[in-house]
Amino acid sequence: MKNILCIGAGYVGGPTMAMIAKKCPQYRVKIVDINAARIDAWNSDNLPVYEPGLQEVVESVRGKNLFFGTDIDASIKEADIIFVSVNTPTKTFGFGCGKASDLQYIEKTARSILAASDGNKIVVEKSTLPVRTAESMERILNSNQKGIHFDVVSNPEFLAEGTAITDLENPDRVLIGGHTDASGRAAVEEIAKIYANWVPRERIITTNLWSSELSKLTANAFLAQRISSVNSLSALCEKTGANIDEIAYAIGCDSRIGSKFLKASIGFGGSCFKKDILNLVYLCEHYGLPEVAEYWESVVKINEWQTTRSVKRVLRSLFNTIAGKKIAVFGFAFKANTNDTRESPAHLVVRELLDERAIPVITDYKALPDAKRDLSDVLDKVMFVEDPYEAAKDAHAILLCTEWRQFAELDWKKVYNLMSKPALIFDGRNILNGDELTKIGFEFMSIGKA
Ligand code: UDX
Ligand code: UDX
Repeated sequence: MKNILCIGAGYVGGPTMAMIAKKCPQYRVKIVDINAARIDAWNSDNLPVYEPGLQEVVESVRGKNLFFGTDIDASIKEADIIFVSVNTPTKTFGFGCGKASDLQYIEKTARSILAASDGNKIVVEKSTLPVRTAESMERILNSNQKGIHFDVVSNPEFLAEGTAITDLENPDRVLIGGHTDASGRAAVEEIAKIYANWVPRERIITTNLWSSELSKLTANAFLAQRISSVNSLSALCEKTGANIDEIAYAIGCDSRIGSKFLKASIGFGGSCFKKDILNLVYLCEHYGLPEVAEYWESVVKINEWQTTRSVKRVLRSLFNTIAGKKIAVFGFAFKANTNDTRESPAHLVVRELLDERAIPVITDYKALPDAKRDLSDVLDKVMFVEDPYEAAKDAHAILLCTEWRQFAELDWKKVYNLMSKPALIFDGRNILNGDELTKIGFEFMSIGKA
């Protein structure tokens, strides 16, 4: 039985390994993390990550061929294949501050792998990394006097949060990059063999290492660019009477453009888009391509502009003064069906409401604990309420920031009656029926509609 190890039990490592364990009973899969509380949670009924379908998958294999632990060194020693799924946040200091990836955890992980190993292993980069990171990993790993050899392979994850289980079960493609010498090719094949247990071979793409590393950044940059493009045009729609949803539908019918990632919104969030684009910007600067860097940086700038201008629109409708007013924020997760709040546009919304001295009242179906953590410096100025009706009580406006399906299904007449009048709704995700809400009495605003 081959041993697979994953270092980093986060949003990526946890679901991915659970799926591998489920689909490949012939492998023993172990996930380790330096964070013992997180491992305890993975071993409990209350998983640290909310993801539809994840609980069932974990329960079906945990204790059989899927294990969670903190014994990192012992687990490295017995592993044949090691996936590295630790976080790679944006650097907050020194050269490349605010753009480059902070690779300290990757480097530390490579050094721990080397220290604990006494035999050959395949090391798989699962985390999103700048192109040519594998070169540094290899230098660390293969600098050893132990006579052991490591093959480094890149296998970036393309799952989206909220749909991680279906994305893993039925991926558009699995990408595996490696060196083209015999040992590199064998390592790539070893990883392809794992996925071939459930993914059709033609969807398993193999490339050279650098293409694979750069494809992940590029895929995220392209997706984010579509949202920023549509969001930039939403502002033009508001000025001209055009409707952004109709435009998105019309252009999305062109098969060359396609219908996905054209939904105008208050802004994109998540752990990847901003971080990865800024990393791409940094790489372009590093390689002496300032125009290319500026082009991609504008995708991030438009995103922040979209959130800020949305708050300004609401402010204008509330007579330019919201000091002391309750403003309900519906949704704090960066999108529906996840408890993840990293880079959520709702966070920026709340900060701007606080700058205006309003009283934000936040409600969310899964993300309130993370929201409290993100706002720990202003807990006395913000309210957190589980029940959306309770959150709407006496509020002057609702800013809908997350497209939770449950919000569309609320009894909006009841909400209206609870609010302070005039009552405003800003639908930052274009999921509500504006005509119905206007009939109830709401002032209704949404993205990209006059
Ligand atoms: C992260 C990155 O954000 C993403 O870009 C990358 O593709 C995969 O890793 P995610 O799984 O969402 O994605 O991150 P996170 O939930 O923060 O999980 C990382 C885990 O690694 C944490 O639980 C952390 O404790 C653990 N870790 C970090 C280690 O076990 N060892 C370390 O040295 C550093
Ligand atoms: C993304 C990529 O999709 C995934 O392949 C990659 O591995 C990690 O980054 P994720 O961050 O989980 O996944 O979420 P995604 O569904 O891509 O949404 C990102 C943000 O864009 C969300 O805030 C979402 O609400 C927003 N969005 C998405 C829009 O505003 N409009 C759209 O049309 C699509």
